[in-house]
Amino acid sequence: MIEEDPITVAVFTLPVNPGDPQNRSLNRILEVLEESGIRIRNQELARDPELSVPLLAEADCILVSWDTAADQLIRVPALPGILHEIRQYNEEIPVFVIGDSGESRVKITLDIMREATEYVWTREDTPGFLAGRLVSAGKKYRDSVSPPFFRAIQEFSREFEYSWHTPGHSGGNAFMKSPAGCRFLRFFGKNLFRADLSVSVKELGSLLSHTGPIGDAEEFASEIFGSDRTYFVTNGTSTANRIVFLGNVAAGDVVLVDRNCHKSIEYGVTMTGAVPVYLIPQWNRYGIIGPIPASSLAPERVRDLVRDPLQIPITPENAPVMAVITNSTYDGLCYRVPVLNDLLGASTDRILYDEAWFAYARFSPLYSDRFALCGRKDPAGPLIFATQSTHKLLAALSQGSMLHVREGRAPFEHVRFNEAFMMFASTSPSYPILASLDISTKMMEGESGTALITGCIEEAVRFRRLMARFLRDISAASPGTDWWFDVWQPELVTDPATGKTLAFADAPLDLLRDSASCWTLRPGESWHGFPDLEPDYCLLDPVKVTVITPGIREDGTPDSKGIPALIVSKFLESRGIISEKTGDYTLLFLFSLGVSKGRSGTLVSELFEFKRHFDQSVRLSEALPSLPEQWPDRYRNTTLKGLAEEMHRYMSGRRMEELLRAAYAAAPEPAIGYAEAYSRFMKGDVERVPVSRMGGRVAATGIVPYPPGIPLLLPGERAGGLQGPVLQYLLALQEFDREFPGFAHEIHGIENSGGEFTAFCIREPG
Ligand SMILES: Cc1ncc(COP(=O)(O)O)c(C=O)c1O
Repeated sequence: MIEEDPITVAVFTLPVNPGDPQNRSLNRILEVLEESGIRIRNQELARDPELSVPLLAEADCILVSWDTAADQLIRVPALPGILHEIRQYNEEIPVFVIGDSGESRVKITLDIMREATEYVWTREDTPGFLAGRLVSAGKKYRDSVSPPFFRAIQEFSREFEYSWHTPGHSGGNAFMKSPAGCRFLRFFGKNLFRADLSVSVKELGSLLSHTGPIGDAEEFASEIFGSDRTYFVTNGTSTANRIVFLGNVAAGDVVLVDRNCHKSIEYGVTMTGAVPVYLIPQWNRYGIIGPIPASSLAPERVRDLVRDPLQIPITPENAPVMAVITNSTYDGLCYRVPVLNDLLGASTDRILYDEAWFAYARFSPLYSDRFALCGRKDPAGPLIFATQSTHKLLAALSQGSMLHVREGRAPFEHVRFNEAFMMFASTSPSYPILASLDISTKMMEGESGTALITGCIEEAVRFRRLMARFLRDISAASPGTDWWFDVWQPELVTDPATGKTLAFADAPLDLLRDSASCWTLRPGESWHGFPDLEPDYCLLDPVKVTVITPGIREDGTPDSKGIPALIVSKFLESRGIISEKTGDYTLLFLFSLGVSKGRSGTLVSELFEFKRHFDQSVRLSEALPSLPEQWPDRYRNTTLKGLAEEMHRYMSGRRMEELLRAAYAAAPEPAIGYAEAYSRFMKGDVERVPVSRMGGRVAATGIVPYPPGIPLLLPGERAGGLQGPVLQYLLALQEFDREFPGFAHEIHGIENSGGEFTAFCIREPG
């Protein structure tokens, strides 16, 4: 049997005197509802005045029981305020307001009538009749809530057909034949398996031809995300990026590539045989990757770039066919897209914005001109592609991504592009992933999408402000002696309405939530540390929060004392808090849709716990027991503070930050193309070479340290001399990993065999 969810009624009450006739009527209605198997969820606003978002989300129908006299006695917002709040969150849900007609103290105002679906007089109708109206409205609403594909899949799952098609588990039945299978089925719940269907089910349409309910769902997403066409991709933005490459680029085509690009772009280049020419971003003192300077994107500069590394003369035939930009960056920097379209559009007809981390941008005015599909279509502008990992910061199952197209002057032909799409699509796509993309789209529809994203921004702003206040208070109480974490954000912000400048820590929530100008990186400001910025070119996304640990001075040199972020991150991890990314002195936290209100409080408390353990020199056996347990000889006699100080001394002694910046500024020389490097790799024309002997050698695969996640070397690029910046940085990482077991760096393309880093290099003749 399909597990049907009972209709749920959320009841918001302002309890009046228990003997009050309205209360008695309400209780009677609730009894009737319960008798009919309806789920009731109750919130007493007098005790808990803030509307519960999970309760609102779960409900199929809302009942508000009100009494004006009581709402004046108890501190809750008035009825119109409550209704307005519900409507901001959900425009469609039926909302019944219940009052007692006899001595009703609720004045029905226009505001109430506008926001409520119905006003119910308890004395005039029987509880049975009122309960029936609630249930019927709830059912209708529930049917309307499901977006196209999810609705179709639910309907099909109810049909109980005997399946003779794939998947072989047949709605989960196969799992019931084995103990492990049974556990698996119970863990995930039967509906997942009933909904895991195949292309053989014609009623659900086809992802490959974009027809039926799947096609409808893509069309719905196109409308909500503002594209001309949207494709659902079930293998992440990694695949979406490769589709864009294969759908636009042919062997030998020049492509302008943000050097701060994901590995999937590298693979797109390899598979197409394109010639990449890099656009180089800036770095700051913390190793945070900044924007590509606008000045380097002017057409005359781009022409120089194109000519430069590969000696390809520019002709109209080999003008760059596409540019690839990462927007926003991992650390939350986003461009002013119209400026980029103008600048890059002078050199190329197509731009791929890799927005793996930015699918939500359309749904807050804060980002109004910062995302690929902002503004309106420009038929004279470049053809735009936006690839978004819906699963990363919106709510979709892992691998759920979307590929959006906005037409421009370069022709876009779906039939041709779909060949590339099919090259990567499975003929058995996961329907639960597709359904999650459909639901994610529905969640963003209308005002509720904006309310959800605004909630994320608010929570991030609360956290940022709290951290700034603690830093100020701690520094004021013990200047120069005590410490606290910093957050990468401006110290001062200006209210655009009044022109008044305030400390970030004191800025009102709504100012920081609503004013993009508070988050714009201004040229010359020291907090961000990027030297080459145009005014209003780059914005820091408030939901991507970089916490900075002590250790780096404003001029980028190491401080005498410091706490490497790896130690903080390990401590937090041991307490169930996993940061998104850990740099040398930075930790990145993402305030995604899944972060509930108040969750940041836990993070602040755990950061305080770290501080307490550090300041009190708590032994590692207590603060981070896994380290001495696993490496007793190395860590047995150390304290948390001792280890942090030792690691900081080590890193500053070897100038690791400086080495990193130098390595990434090196612009390695391409010796052969990616496709050739790949072909030689697959033919075995490569050898594993220790990094200590890689001087002058050509890398066969990309080498990408995480973080920063930018390729240090790409396939076919020469590593430079042993004393050069690239190999010196890799050797420093190797030495660090040997010195501090348990803190090894993750470097794609490098194998760590017994402490020695090796990489595949192209075999040298002889
Ligand atoms: C910039 C960028 N693009 C693409 C991807 C790949 O996205 P997905 O994990 O959805 O395949 C990532 C993943 O981290 C990324 O950082």
